[in-house]
Parts: sequence; C-alpha cells; structure tokens
Amino acid sequence: MTQPLLDARALTKRYPVGGGKRGAMLHAVDAVDLTIAPGECVGLVGESGCGKSTLVRLLARLIDPTSGNIFLDGADTTAVSQARFVTMPDRARIQVVFQDPSESLNPSFRVFDSIADPLKRLLGVRDRDKLAAQVHRAAELVGLPRELIERYPHQLSGGQRARVGIARAIVVEPSLLILDEPTSALDVSVQAIILRLLADLQARLGMSYLFVSHDLNVVRLLCSRIVVMYLGRVVEVAPTEELFTAPRHPYTRALIASIPDPARRGEARPRLDGSPRSPIDPDPNTCRFYGRCPTGTDRCATAMPELLRFGEGHFAACHFA
Ligand SMILES: Nc1ncnc2c1ncn2[C@@H]1O[C@H](COP(=O)(O)OP(=O)(O)OP(=O)(O)O)[C@@H](O)[C@H]1O
Ligand SMILES: [Mg+2]
Repeated sequence: MTQPLLDARALTKRYPVGGGKRGAMLHAVDAVDLTIAPGECVGLVGESGCGKSTLVRLLARLIDPTSGNIFLDGADTTAVSQARFVTMPDRARIQVVFQDPSESLNPSFRVFDSIADPLKRLLGVRDRDKLAAQVHRAAELVGLPRELIERYPHQLSGGQRARVGIARAIVVEPSLLILDEPTSALDVSVQAIILRLLADLQARLGMSYLFVSHDLNVVRLLCSRIVVMYLGRVVEVAPTEELFTAPRHPYTRALIASIPDPARRGEARPRLDGSPRSPIDPDPNTCRFYGRCPTGTDRCATAMPELLRFGEGHFAACHFA
C-alpha cells in the first residue's frame, strides 16, 4: 500500500459552550479517521452542522484539534501548534477554497494581487517577473481572461470570483485542495461550469481533492470515494458507486433517498424526519443517529457503534449494517 498523502487519526474538536453551564462542550468533530491518497478525490457529505467545515479547518491547520493527529506524508503536523505550523514550509501544501468566494477575497485587492498574495505570504516569492508568471499561469488554468486581472472583486461575476478563489488556492501548487461547498453560492448553470473546471484541474494537476458538499450528486460526479458524516462522526465510507448501490448505514440510505429524482416527481419519497440530537455533551454510549433512525433498538441507546469494515474500502458504523 502506498503511503497516504493525508492521514487523520481520531481527530476531535470540542468547543466550550453555555457560559453558566460550566464544562458543557459542543462536540463538533468526534474521533474522525480519514485518509486521502496522492491524487485521490474524496467526497465529504452530511447535513448542515454535522462538522464538515470544522473538519476542513482542522485538516488545513487553521484551528488546533482538541485531540488526535494529522499526518502529512507520514509526518505528524499536529506535533506543533497551529500558530507554529503556519511558519513552516508544509503550510502551503493544503489549500482551501471556501464556500463564498467574496468572503475570502479582499475587496481592495485587484485580481492580480489576490492571486499573488498566497505566493508572497506562503512561499515568500518577491521577484516581480516570477510573481507575474505564476499569477498568469494560475489565471489561465482557471479560465480567467487576461483583461480581468486588473479588476476588483466587485467588478466580477459570481463565477469569475469563484475562479479567482480557485486560482488563489492552486497558485502555490498544493498537494491537497479542500473545497468546502465551493459552488453553493452560485447559480445552478454556473455551478455546473465550475464543477467541470474543478474536474479538469484535478486531471491536469494531479492534486488530491477533499470535496465537501451536502449534495450527494455533486460528489458522485467528481469523487471516487465518499465519507458520510453525522453529528461529528464518520458513519460510512465507501467507494462512490458502492455507496449508492449498497449503502450500509441508515443515514446514508436516507440521504440517497432524499436526492430529487425527476423521473419520480410527485411520488412520496422516504424522508429524514426530526432533527439531529444535540451536539452538546452527547451520550458516549448512544448512537448519534438514535431517535431519528428507522431501526433504533435498545442496543443503539446503550452502545455506540464502531466503524467496521464491510468490504474493500467500505466501512460503516451501525449495529445493523
Ligand atoms: N467556533 C465555534 N465555536 C462553537 N461552536 C462551533 C464553532 N464552529 C462550529 N461550531 C459548531 O460545530 C458544529 C459543526 O459546525 P460546522 O460549521 O463544522 O458544520 P458544517 O457541517 O460545515 O455545516 P454547514 O453544512 O452548515 O456548513 C455546529 O454545531 C456548529 O454550531
Ligand atoms: Mg460548512
């Protein structure tokens, strides 16, 4: 087996909450294991609030984990604090494209400076010609016309801003590009174009992707493996087609069933009723999906199911998988 590019083990992030209620903790990410091979495209799905963006921030070392480790090419990046990590050469190897490009773009920076910024900040590139060459190459890779390079973000369309966000992330040639719902702020027609661009880029540059979405259809298109999260925990991991044809976890089945199917318009679809349990101090001995799960038995209320293997690359955390 080749060494994974990224190997996260028992990654956990808790936030203190409640002020008065001393010691209460919100479990945003709970003991997550995740590997990504060089050049692999992995999808991460789960409903709002399940911890996807928190996991992204942990993996990119934007925040420190409460516990757990992240290995990059076998080296433990969590051996140093986040504050220390941002001074090290490896900091450029994982880049994130955030949900809303207008948030990550400085409104007072021209496109050129937005794309040049990570080159200066992360790689210390100072030479004007070198900066210009790399900025233009990145702009070309994401299909940004030359004449836009001197514009400000407010003079661009949503799709163009998305391209600038992607150019900023790839200009430092990361090994892993994390895309946190990169198209959710865009019109449907533009979404499809940006998704195709991302697929092309991955084929051309060979970097790994972690593609975050709450839309299973989006990750199905781009990813060879899918990780399903529920309330801070990984509940299923499987090769993409296997996840769709033979899902093991009831939450995954509910997600798949909720995908709109134009051929079945008007028919009653199985729905995911109720809301998730509270992420604050959840019972460590109760399955997080208990109460909302159609199966749910006494065992689910008294023993947390572990992630077990059900085939090549297929894992699920359910007593009845
Ligand atoms: N800085 C923080 N302080 C306290 N709680 C936080 C913080 N960041 C996230 N959370 C909580 O952690 C949980 C996971 O949030 P996160 O943003 O990771 O979810 P998500 O899966 O990305 O959701 P979405 O699909 O809406 O983007 C939520 O309950 C959220 O309220
Ligand atoms: Mg999020």
